[in-house]
Amino acid sequence: MTNVPAIPADRLPALLAAMPKAELHIHIEGSLEPELIFQLAQRNGVVLPYASVEDLRRAYAFTNLQSFLDIYYAGASVLLQAQDFYDMAWAYLQRAAADNVVRTEIFFDPQTHTARGVAMETVIDGLHRACTDARRIGVDAELILCFLRHLSEEEAFETLEQALPFRNRFIGVGLDSSEVGHPPEKFARVFAKCAQQGLHLVAHAGEEGPPAYVWSALDVLKVERIDHGVQSARDPALMKRLAQDRIPLTVCPLSNLKLQVFPELGQHNLRALLDAGLMATVNSDDPAYFGGYMNENFLQTFAATGLDAQHAYRLARNSFEGSFASPGAKRKAIESIDEVFASFA
Ligand code: ADE
Ligand code: ZN
Repeated sequence: MTNVPAIPADRLPALLAAMPKAELHIHIEGSLEPELIFQLAQRNGVVLPYASVEDLRRAYAFTNLQSFLDIYYAGASVLLQAQDFYDMAWAYLQRAAADNVVRTEIFFDPQTHTARGVAMETVIDGLHRACTDARRIGVDAELILCFLRHLSEEEAFETLEQALPFRNRFIGVGLDSSEVGHPPEKFARVFAKCAQQGLHLVAHAGEEGPPAYVWSALDVLKVERIDHGVQSARDPALMKRLAQDRIPLTVCPLSNLKLQVFPELGQHNLRALLDAGLMATVNSDDPAYFGGYMNENFLQTFAATGLDAQHAYRLARNSFEGSFASPGAKRKAIESIDEVFASFA
């Protein structure tokens, strides 16, 4: 579709909800809702330092990335059996389907679990079984293994060794956790080995960290996508590079709001990134902690920043073009976006 049809402003929320979309930045441990945390704690005999669901929710008052990560890792401590990982992923996949997410590339943090004595196989078994079952509800789901950047290169290598027997159950690797002080180049050799394995490469960069981290994610790690990347707007040469090379940025507006990367959603730079020709996408990051899954991210961001149907079309297309789906699946998804937009004209 070269000309996006004019769509009345009052139909925009329904269009945002109905358009098919791909989610490229979701940490499955960040989809663990407080109710499920308590249910799994009881099932596994894990004692939580919170008296109730409400008590836990009250702790979700974050001031920056680290203040969130401390609570996020504590929440994940209830995951012990493959069925726990399945239940967590299945709950997310049902919400994704309800938001018309038809493709999702799910991050998981194995080191958060192996450090507690949970086997790599247990983690991957549960998550992968949920991804397979997701086809029944119309969601094409794949896994991306993330290394925790606050841990050492040696620990990342050990994690890769533990995961390689299950190489056919994940499509790529990423880099997450505390950004500042842990630049991408710390993992140059690990990513080089992952590239040799034919894995897709992505990394969080420019969430809180400087544009220099986005440059090194691209030039040293040789990633195909940048997760977040919103700090790139501080470096005009970087903006040019991202636009020219059509590097997808997996932007997470509600996450950026809750972690105080932007003081208000109305001040988010998503529009500036799109208007500069960057291949930005909208994603939920850790929806159980940041107050919304995919459609909520679209609805609140459009309402706060005044984006329109042209932007919606671009974001929906970018999500599939920036995904690791097959060329045929991308073509089919773009056809279905065009059909939905035509039906709203
Ligand atoms: N792990 C989960 N969410 C994250 C985020 N927003 N940034 C870095 N690491 C994360
Ligand atoms: Zn993230």
